[in-house]
Amino acid sequence: MKFFLDTANIEEIEELIPTGFVDGVTTNPSLIAKNGDDMAKTIKSICSIVSGPVSAEVTATDYETMLKEGEYLASFAKNVAVKVPLTFNGLKACKALREKNIMVNVTLCFSEAQALLAAKAGATFISPFVGRLDDIGEKGTDLIKNIVVMYKNYNFKTEVLVASVRSVEHLIESSLMGADVATLPPKVIHELYNHPLTDKGLKAFLDDWSKTGQSILPK
Ligand code: G3P
Repeated sequence: MKFFLDTANIEEIEELIPTGFVDGVTTNPSLIAKNGDDMAKTIKSICSIVSGPVSAEVTATDYETMLKEGEYLASFAKNVAVKVPLTFNGLKACKALREKNIMVNVTLCFSEAQALLAAKAGATFISPFVGRLDDIGEKGTDLIKNIVVMYKNYNFKTEVLVASVRSVEHLIESSLMGADVATLPPKVIHELYNHPLTDKGLKAFLDDWSKTGQSILPK
Protein backbone atom coordinates (compact mmCIF):
# COMPACT_ATOMS: atom_id res chain seq x y z
CA MET A 1 0.00 0.00 0.00
CA LYS A 2 1.35 3.45 -0.88
CA PHE A 3 1.08 6.28 1.68
CA PHE A 4 0.57 9.82 0.41
CA LEU A 5 0.68 12.74 2.85
CA ASP A 6 -2.47 14.85 2.86
CA THR A 7 -0.98 18.27 3.56
CA ALA A 8 0.45 21.38 1.88
CA ASN A 9 2.77 22.07 4.80
CA ILE A 10 6.42 21.64 3.80
CA GLU A 11 7.62 21.21 7.39
CA GLU A 12 5.16 18.37 8.01
CA ILE A 13 6.38 16.68 4.82
CA GLU A 14 10.08 17.19 5.58
CA GLU A 15 9.62 15.69 9.06
CA LEU A 16 8.25 12.44 7.61
CA ILE A 17 10.42 11.98 4.49
CA PRO A 18 13.25 10.22 6.46
CA THR A 19 10.76 7.48 7.47
CA GLY A 20 10.30 6.37 3.86
CA PHE A 21 6.52 6.56 4.35
CA VAL A 22 6.05 9.45 1.90
CA ASP A 23 5.19 7.88 -1.47
CA GLY A 24 3.44 11.05 -2.62
CA VAL A 25 1.46 14.08 -1.44
CA THR A 26 -2.09 15.31 -1.99
CA THR A 27 -3.20 18.89 -1.67
CA ASN A 28 -6.52 20.62 -2.33
CA PRO A 29 -7.66 24.26 -2.28
CA SER A 30 -8.54 24.07 1.44
CA LEU A 31 -5.12 22.63 2.37
CA ILE A 32 -3.40 25.31 0.26
CA ALA A 33 -5.49 28.02 1.96
CA LYS A 34 -4.70 26.54 5.40
CA ASN A 35 -0.97 26.56 4.60
CA GLY A 36 -1.28 30.23 3.62
CA ASP A 37 1.51 30.44 1.04
CA ASP A 38 1.43 31.01 -2.73
CA MET A 39 -0.03 27.92 -4.44
CA ALA A 40 2.54 27.62 -7.24
CA LYS A 41 5.48 28.13 -4.86
CA THR A 42 4.04 25.52 -2.48
CA ILE A 43 3.44 22.84 -5.14
CA LYS A 44 6.88 23.42 -6.72
CA SER A 45 8.54 23.18 -3.29
CA ILE A 46 6.74 19.91 -2.51
CA CYS A 47 7.67 18.49 -5.93
CA SER A 48 11.32 19.38 -5.27
CA ILE A 49 11.47 17.16 -2.15
CA VAL A 50 8.95 14.40 -3.00
CA SER A 51 9.61 12.22 -6.07
CA GLY A 52 6.19 10.51 -6.05
CA PRO A 53 2.90 11.97 -7.33
CA VAL A 54 1.96 15.40 -5.92
CA SER A 55 -1.70 16.29 -6.40
CA ALA A 56 -2.56 19.90 -7.25
CA GLU A 57 -6.24 20.76 -7.77
CA VAL A 58 -7.85 22.93 -10.43
CA THR A 59 -10.34 25.50 -9.18
CA ALA A 60 -12.20 26.19 -12.41
CA THR A 61 -15.53 24.43 -12.94
CA ASP A 62 -15.83 24.86 -16.70
CA TYR A 63 -14.19 22.36 -19.04
CA GLU A 64 -12.01 24.75 -21.06
CA THR A 65 -10.53 26.52 -18.04
CA MET A 66 -10.06 23.22 -16.18
CA LEU A 67 -7.92 22.07 -19.09
CA LYS A 68 -5.87 25.27 -19.11
CA GLU A 69 -5.37 25.15 -15.34
CA GLY A 70 -4.53 21.44 -15.48
CA GLU A 71 -1.86 21.90 -18.14
CA TYR A 72 -0.42 24.85 -16.21
CA LEU A 73 -0.28 22.87 -12.96
CA ALA A 74 1.31 19.91 -14.77
CA SER A 75 4.03 22.25 -16.09
CA PHE A 76 5.32 22.79 -12.54
CA ALA A 77 7.00 19.37 -12.37
CA LYS A 78 6.84 15.91 -13.99
CA ASN A 79 5.38 14.37 -10.81
CA VAL A 80 2.34 16.68 -10.59
CA ALA A 81 -0.97 14.81 -10.60
CA VAL A 82 -3.76 17.20 -11.59
CA LYS A 83 -6.79 16.94 -9.31
CA VAL A 84 -10.20 17.46 -10.89
CA PRO A 85 -13.57 17.19 -9.11
CA LEU A 86 -15.94 14.34 -9.98
CA THR A 87 -18.28 16.45 -12.08
CA PHE A 88 -19.31 16.12 -15.74
CA ASN A 89 -16.74 18.75 -16.75
CA GLY A 90 -14.16 17.22 -14.43
CA LEU A 91 -14.56 13.82 -16.09
CA LYS A 92 -14.21 15.36 -19.56
CA ALA A 93 -11.12 17.24 -18.40
CA CYS A 94 -9.73 14.00 -16.93
CA LYS A 95 -10.01 12.26 -20.30
CA ALA A 96 -8.40 15.18 -22.16
CA LEU A 97 -5.55 15.57 -19.68
CA ARG A 98 -4.86 11.82 -19.72
CA GLU A 99 -4.64 11.97 -23.53
CA LYS A 100 -1.82 14.49 -22.96
CA ASN A 101 -0.16 11.92 -20.66
CA ILE A 102 -0.80 14.06 -17.58
CA MET A 103 -1.52 12.20 -14.30
CA VAL A 104 -5.07 12.88 -13.06
CA ASN A 105 -6.49 12.36 -9.57
CA VAL A 106 -10.32 12.52 -9.70
CA THR A 107 -11.41 13.79 -6.30
CA LEU A 108 -14.60 14.26 -4.25
CA CYS A 109 -15.84 10.76 -5.08
CA PHE A 110 -18.77 9.54 -2.92
CA SER A 111 -20.36 6.69 -4.91
CA GLU A 112 -19.61 3.55 -6.89
CA ALA A 113 -21.24 5.10 -9.97
CA GLN A 114 -18.87 8.07 -9.79
CA ALA A 115 -15.86 5.77 -9.37
CA LEU A 116 -16.91 3.73 -12.43
CA LEU A 117 -17.03 6.89 -14.55
CA ALA A 118 -13.61 8.06 -13.30
CA ALA A 119 -12.03 4.75 -14.32
CA LYS A 120 -13.71 4.92 -17.75
CA ALA A 121 -12.33 8.46 -18.10
CA GLY A 122 -8.86 7.01 -17.59
CA ALA A 123 -8.15 8.53 -14.18
CA THR A 124 -4.74 7.72 -12.72
CA PHE A 125 -6.23 7.88 -9.21
CA ILE A 126 -9.76 7.97 -7.78
CA SER A 127 -10.19 9.66 -4.38
CA PRO A 128 -13.22 8.39 -2.44
CA PHE A 129 -13.72 10.49 0.72
CA VAL A 130 -14.37 7.94 3.48
CA GLY A 131 -14.48 10.39 6.40
CA ARG A 132 -17.11 12.59 4.82
CA LEU A 133 -19.32 9.55 4.11
CA ASP A 134 -19.00 8.57 7.80
CA ASP A 135 -20.02 12.15 8.64
CA ILE A 136 -23.43 11.52 7.01
CA GLY A 137 -23.93 8.16 8.75
CA GLU A 138 -22.65 5.90 6.00
CA LYS A 139 -19.69 3.49 6.29
CA GLY A 140 -17.14 5.12 4.01
CA THR A 141 -14.92 2.06 3.73
CA ASP A 142 -17.80 0.06 2.22
CA LEU A 143 -17.36 2.27 -0.83
CA ILE A 144 -13.65 1.36 -0.94
CA LYS A 145 -14.54 -2.35 -0.84
CA ASN A 146 -17.00 -2.00 -3.74
CA ILE A 147 -14.67 0.13 -5.90
CA VAL A 148 -11.81 -2.37 -5.50
CA VAL A 149 -14.15 -5.20 -6.61
CA MET A 150 -15.53 -3.19 -9.54
CA TYR A 151 -12.07 -2.22 -10.77
CA LYS A 152 -10.79 -5.79 -10.50
CA ASN A 153 -13.83 -7.08 -12.44
CA TYR A 154 -12.88 -4.98 -15.47
CA ASN A 155 -9.13 -4.73 -14.93
CA PHE A 156 -9.29 -0.93 -14.66
CA LYS A 157 -5.84 0.54 -14.05
CA THR A 158 -7.12 3.48 -11.97
CA GLU A 159 -5.57 3.34 -8.49
CA VAL A 160 -7.93 3.56 -5.50
CA LEU A 161 -6.58 6.45 -3.39
CA VAL A 162 -8.45 6.52 -0.06
CA ALA A 163 -8.99 10.12 1.05
CA SER A 164 -10.60 11.94 3.96
CA VAL A 165 -8.87 9.43 6.24
CA ARG A 166 -9.59 10.37 9.84
CA SER A 167 -8.36 7.33 11.79
CA VAL A 168 -6.07 4.31 11.91
CA GLU A 169 -9.22 2.21 11.48
CA HIS A 170 -9.98 3.87 8.14
CA LEU A 171 -6.48 2.98 6.96
CA ILE A 172 -6.47 -0.62 8.20
CA GLU A 173 -9.96 -1.36 6.85
CA SER A 174 -9.00 0.15 3.47
CA SER A 175 -5.78 -1.88 3.35
CA LEU A 176 -7.70 -5.09 4.15
CA MET A 177 -9.94 -4.26 1.19
CA GLY A 178 -7.00 -3.85 -1.16
CA ALA A 179 -6.93 -0.09 -1.74
CA ASP A 180 -3.78 0.96 -3.63
CA VAL A 181 -3.05 4.21 -1.81
CA ALA A 182 -4.17 6.09 1.29
CA THR A 183 -3.57 9.79 1.68
CA LEU A 184 -2.98 10.44 5.37
CA PRO A 185 -2.98 13.58 7.46
CA PRO A 186 0.40 13.59 9.28
CA LYS A 187 -1.40 13.17 12.60
CA VAL A 188 -2.77 9.78 11.46
CA ILE A 189 0.73 8.59 10.56
CA HIS A 190 1.91 9.53 14.04
CA GLU A 191 -1.02 7.53 15.49
CA LEU A 192 0.01 4.42 13.52
CA TYR A 193 3.13 3.62 15.51
CA ASN A 194 1.78 4.39 18.95
CA HIS A 195 0.75 1.44 21.15
CA PRO A 196 0.65 1.37 24.99
CA LEU A 197 2.13 -2.15 25.12
CA THR A 198 5.13 -0.98 23.08
CA ASP A 199 5.74 1.83 25.55
CA LYS A 200 5.25 -0.51 28.51
CA GLY A 201 7.51 -3.20 27.06
CA LEU A 202 10.26 -0.73 26.18
CA LYS A 203 10.22 0.72 29.69
CA ALA A 204 10.53 -2.77 31.17
CA PHE A 205 13.47 -3.61 28.86
CA LEU A 206 15.31 -0.41 29.76
CA ASP A 207 14.61 -0.75 33.48
CA ASP A 208 16.06 -4.29 33.43
CA TRP A 209 18.99 -3.16 31.28
CA SER A 210 19.83 -0.28 33.61
CA LYS A 211 20.22 -2.79 36.47
CA THR A 212 23.09 -4.49 34.61
CA GLY A 213 25.19 -1.34 34.75
CA GLN A 214 26.28 -2.09 31.20
CA SER A 215 26.27 0.11 28.09
CA ILE A 216 26.30 -1.10 24.49
CA LEU A 217 28.88 1.36 23.26
CA PRO A 218 32.38 0.93 24.71
CA LYS A 219 33.08 3.70 27.22
O1 G3P B 1 -7.78 14.43 0.67
C1 G3P B 1 -9.02 14.99 1.02
C2 G3P B 1 -8.97 15.45 2.43
O2 G3P B 1 -8.06 16.53 2.55
C3 G3P B 1 -10.33 15.86 2.96
O3 G3P B 1 -10.33 15.49 4.28
O4 G3P B 1 -11.11 15.43 6.63
O5 G3P B 1 -11.60 17.45 5.16
O6 G3P B 1 -12.77 15.27 4.75
P1 G3P B 1 -11.51 15.93 5.25
